[in-house]
Amino acid sequence: MKILSVISTICLVLLGSSWATGQTTRGNPKEGQAVYEKSCLRCHGNKLDGNGPDSQDLIVRPANLQSPITRSKTDWELLVAISNGVLFSPMHSFRGKLTDQQMLDVLSYIRTMGPPDVVS
Ligand code: HEC
Repeated sequence: MKILSVISTICLVLLGSSWATGQTTRGNPKEGQAVYEKSCLRCHGNKLDGNGPDSQDLIVRPANLQSPITRSKTDWELLVAISNGVLFSPMHSFRGKLTDQQMLDVLSYIRTMGPPDVVS
């Protein structure tokens, strides 16, 4: 069954390169959870609902990462928010603070924490 492993390797490579186009997450949610707890939880909260301990003091409230509006965004859009920050908001840029891999990890953590998709 060598051919199968060759095929799956090729698929993995394709999957890996497609994060640049923003549709596939290849982060590690376990690692991402640690990153989240260290860097994001104080604003976005342990339920990812934007009610972290520091959120009360912010004029622009942190995004509810569980909301349909955030969940419907592509991986690329969310990665841009994480790496560049959100203009005119306390969501600052994490570029240079987190590695690309850590940003993918935290994104996949956010994705795994989402409620099951609601079919409308
Ligand atoms: C200082 C508080 C703060 C911290 C720390 C913080 N955020 Fe944010 N985050 C915000 C605010 C405020 C917004 C913007 C809300 C808005 O645009 O209305 C935001 C927006 C976002 C968005 C965009 C959501 C969307 O729908 O476009 C993502 C994704 C995000 N944060 C992820 C993270 C991640 C991942 C971390 C940790 C690496 C993090 N944030 C750390 C406050 C914070």
